[in-house]
Amino acid sequence: MLKFDWFAAPCAYALRPVRSDAYGLSQMESEDRAMDINSVGIVGAGQMGNGIAHVFALAGFDVLMTDINQDALDKAVALIERNMDRQVSREKITEAEKSAAMARIKTTLKLTDLGQTDLVIEAATERETVKQAIFEDLLPHLKPETILTSNTSSISITRLASRTDRPEKFMGFHFMNPVPVMQLVELIRGIATDDATYRALLKVVEKLGKTAASAEDFPAFIVNRILMPMINEAVYTLYEGVGSVKSIDESLKLGANHPMGPLELADFIGLDTCLAIMNVLHEGLADTKYRPCPLLTKYVEAGWLGRKTQRGFYDYRGDVPVPTR
Ligand SMILES: NC(=O)c1ccc[n+]([C@@H]2O[C@H](COP(=O)([O-])OP(=O)(O)OC[C@H]3O[C@@H](n4cnc5c(N)ncnc54)[C@H](O)[C@@H]3O)[C@@H](O)[C@H]2O)c1
Repeated sequence: MLKFDWFAAPCAYALRPVRSDAYGLSQMESEDRAMDINSVGIVGAGQMGNGIAHVFALAGFDVLMTDINQDALDKAVALIERNMDRQVSREKITEAEKSAAMARIKTTLKLTDLGQTDLVIEAATERETVKQAIFEDLLPHLKPETILTSNTSSISITRLASRTDRPEKFMGFHFMNPVPVMQLVELIRGIATDDATYRALLKVVEKLGKTAASAEDFPAFIVNRILMPMINEAVYTLYEGVGSVKSIDESLKLGANHPMGPLELADFIGLDTCLAIMNVLHEGLADTKYRPCPLLTKYVEAGWLGRKTQRGFYDYRGDVPVPTR
């Protein structure tokens, strides 16, 4: 089976960083709030959950990760260890830093165990009902001061927040995939999010060594509002027979200097996630230009979700990825 070397993956899309002194609170005040965040609860141990756990543990936070099945948790911890081993072999971190970080990562099948953490990052499947159910179950067990966030790629932060007991302490905290490699974190304030929460998350991003960019709370925010229609258009180009998987990806890599082809990138993100984001854009903006391509829907219905299921626009089960069309 081909292993994707995500440390060698190109970091693609950079945005102008948010200046961390532009929001009225004193440096000391915001640092005080950020210093209160020592422990992080992560819901969902998939592609994003394990990457988020990885970077928080390396930055010195205690991490408690949950998922609905033990297998996902075991796989996530094993993957984090393999990825940190690779960082050690490339001298990006020391063996001692790796051991200390791995020791900070704990897992549980009980969502409610996350109640005592200072910051919760929900990174479960991109479906609003799933996310709402998680918040509903978790809320009665949360400390009043805990900041609640979602790593959603597209769903309204204001709407998710409005169904919790703490819309002022709720934010969109959107990491990019693969988390240990990608520099950007989108910070999305809901209509009720307060300044102290925003500033606390800015400081967390700084502690992670990443760069924050602020986006308004509209469907798919900035990165995916621009990226997903391009990916969807690439699928339409394939669907209409304008090009093959190979020619479409080669064209964008060599003709537009993109580090990955759009179909390769879609497989990397997960075709279910791409479809979910297109549906949010289509419904949220009520514009037919966001209509998901029927071919994208067909791949998702087949369970060909990209790299995570070993098949998508490419078949990853052999030594080299082979286009499936
Ligand atoms: N894939 C990307 O490139 C990317 C990038 C940025 C943000 N996101 C967002 O991150 C989130 C997760 O995406 P992913 O790619 O990691 O998906 P994934 O399919 O790899 O993982 C999702 C995980 O959530 C778990 N899960 C589902 N319901 C749960 C529940 N009720 N409680 C706990 N765990 C539950 C699943 O078992 C699975 O392990 C989505 O909101 C997605 O939009 C994805």
